[in-house]
Amino acid sequence: MNTLSRFNSFQFARHGDKQNSAFFEEYLQKLLEERDRVGLTDLIQEIDALMITVDPDHSIQYIAELSLMTSYHYLVTLESEQHWTHVLRIDLDSPDLLIREVKDPNFRGIFRSLNEIYPVGARKPNSRYMGEIIRVTNMHEVVKLQEDREFRFFTRDEVRKMELPDNVAISKPSPYTHNIVGYMQRQPGELRVYALGTSTIRSDVQAAYDAAKNQQARLRIDDLILPVDHLATRVYSQNREVAILEYLSWSSYYFWGAYNIWDQNSSTNVTKSVHGLAETKSPAKVFTANNTPYFVNHLGKLASPTETFVRNYGPRLHHVALSVKDGMRDGMENIEFVVDAIAAQGKGFLLDVIGSKEEGLKQIFSNASEHSSLIIEYVQRYDGFDGFFTRDNVAKLTAAAGVEEGVLEAQAKLSQGSGSE
Ligand SMILES: [Fe+2]
Repeated sequence: MNTLSRFNSFQFARHGDKQNSAFFEEYLQKLLEERDRVGLTDLIQEIDALMITVDPDHSIQYIAELSLMTSYHYLVTLESEQHWTHVLRIDLDSPDLLIREVKDPNFRGIFRSLNEIYPVGARKPNSRYMGEIIRVTNMHEVVKLQEDREFRFFTRDEVRKMELPDNVAISKPSPYTHNIVGYMQRQPGELRVYALGTSTIRSDVQAAYDAAKNQQARLRIDDLILPVDHLATRVYSQNREVAILEYLSWSSYYFWGAYNIWDQNSSTNVTKSVHGLAETKSPAKVFTANNTPYFVNHLGKLASPTETFVRNYGPRLHHVALSVKDGMRDGMENIEFVVDAIAAQGKGFLLDVIGSKEEGLKQIFSNASEHSSLIIEYVQRYDGFDGFFTRDNVAKLTAAAGVEEGVLEAQAKLSQGSGSE
């Protein structure tokens, strides 16, 4: 390895029991060695923003939901011809959320086309997670190095036409995750600026935000919900390894490890920043895939909630996990206190809080948002537990997500309606 490289993406212990192919292990080594050697690991830093698109007239309600359920604050709205893009922020030590609403229901863009061929995804054609913007120290250099490695970007003209920030280099969507990656040049300490449209503070958005934040404060949960911990993407079974290798090539993340979740016939694969950043600053990226493809599952009556999700929605982000501060309030674990308070406001959860202090963490999934289709996970870690999850929790969460409304409905239709479609 080149001794000039400041980073060594191989300095981390491997976790988990999921067996990878010889192809994966060989190219993991080669790709990360190259990434370190050419300087990309150094040039590419933390996740600076998460981009989500929603259908017309959904962004205000979604911002109200996020203002109650997360620690994000409404900052500003960027108006362009076809979109409203609302910027939500906690602070500069955690990623922004860009919530982008399509103005015209007949608008047809690339993110819509990624939804439309999937039976459940198509019902909310403009709603999906788009991808993350990653901070880089030299955008020109990073784009050039990535293009040398066959990665593709939208042209400046295409970025303008899509009404994405003009100062961000935007990748073509991944064939495996359907997510994009943006690179934005920013030095530590510089402000985050999105060069897009006209900047305004919309009074209707501000009013919805204020009402939800006041409610959050009244419920005494505003100081308990912390920034994003991880982002979990679901991909087809055959794309598990390539999706991970591709993401490691776009980012400066390393392969932390993967666990087989036997009774759900899937695996959970974790990648994290090599720069030693806390997840609150640069969330872990998790990939979940079925162990076997859909067409063999009937033979062994194998569970396949992950594959079913991907077939119904398309490969995409499944949930955003938020940390809950370790501790207790009014005699309850903080996570239970937060969930009870939010559930009392009419928000549903897919299961009860699971896990225990002894195992190191407790977790829960909310219902999928009607605005973005994204699930919110809350996770409370005890006494600085540094493991990422417990196998038992993941099995329960995966099973619960498998009976999520959209997935269950489509499954029921499939089993009743054979021959009718
Ligand atoms: Fe998760």
